Amino acid sequence: MKQAKIVGTGSYLPQKILTNFDLQNMVETSDEWIVTRTGIHERRLAQENEFTSTMGLAAAKKAIDDAQKIPQDIDCIIVATLTPDYIFPSTACLIQHALGINGPAFDMQAACSGYIYGLSIAKAFVENGQYKNVLIVASEKLSSIVDYSDRTTCVVFGDGAAACVVSLEGKGLSIDSVKLGASGEYADLLILPGGGCRHPATHETVDQKMHYLRMKGNEVFKHAIRNMESAVRECLADLHLEESNIDWLIPHQANKRIIDALAKRFSHLSEEKVVQNVISKYGNTSASSIGIALDELRKEGKVQHHEKIVFTAFGAGFTWGAAIVTNQK
Ligand code: UT7
Repeated sequence: MKQAKIVGTGSYLPQKILTNFDLQNMVETSDEWIVTRTGIHERRLAQENEFTSTMGLAAAKKAIDDAQKIPQDIDCIIVATLTPDYIFPSTACLIQHALGINGPAFDMQAACSGYIYGLSIAKAFVENGQYKNVLIVASEKLSSIVDYSDRTTCVVFGDGAAACVVSLEGKGLSIDSVKLGASGEYADLLILPGGGCRHPATHETVDQKMHYLRMKGNEVFKHAIRNMESAVRECLADLHLEESNIDWLIPHQANKRIIDALAKRFSHLSEEKVVQNVISKYGNTSASSIGIALDELRKEGKVQHHEKIVFTAFGAGFTWGAAIVTNQK
């Protein structure tokens, strides 16, 4: 049976750090509140000349290198982002040009679940033989849509990028199962109201701050835990596996309290098997967070042969998803 694998990973974080102490000088908040409620200590911010495409390109080059391939081996590019350089053309086309390659390239928007949605599409593409080496890039310049006078959102989000190469050939993480979900009835709970065709940019949309993201955080929170857990269970059922077969859990890095609540539902996993340091260092990087966490975990060399990693994410839409991969060295 043809089996898609993640054969290379990469990530890129901008150098500029925004700490909780910096934020204390910008809005009415405290390091103590942010750490207790979110687990975040600091986040990265892109410079003015860094964009979703340039950060994504940096992560992509590392992933291609890690896969022991060259850019010309890539025959399809999928970019997951909710902060594209432009509404059009796609950020994927900008990255394709920068890599100097041909082949289809498109953006795909599933908010924070983008990396997992991307894995599902790439798996289908390579397993059905349509493309050989699919590059997934998840990249976000969330600082471009965050209102740094709104304490309920500005403490949470950060910038960063991740990428991976999905292929049939080579060593890596076999993508054993992917399950996706969505529920548009909650669209208003996490939304960028302005800039689309419903509210194109006008002086009024700018005055009303409609080009900044808005989130009803505590409502999103409840849905996040429930849907991520059920997506993981769907993947387990799909593969006829038990909870105890999971060796590592990489949840979307949205909030340490969400990660902890999810970890409790998979209580056989010890604390060090649930990735949670990424939220502390980089905040919520939306589509990029799982890819960044995966890249760091792989580079630390902790994942043993045949161990299974579960990814799960939840985001605006709402969208959610989970994937189970196995390390095939
Ligand atoms: O990535 C996509 C999915 N996104 C998520 O999963 C995000 C999920 N949500 C969250 O991470 C959390 O809901 C937040 C971190 C955004 C907020 O934490 P919370 O514990 O849900 O706080 P809350 O919104 O219920 O607010 C509690 C209190 C409020 O004050 P009152 O009304 O009780 O007086 C807020 O005004 O905390 C206040 N507050 C703050 N205080 C200090 C909100 N933000 C801050 C802040 N500093 N930065």
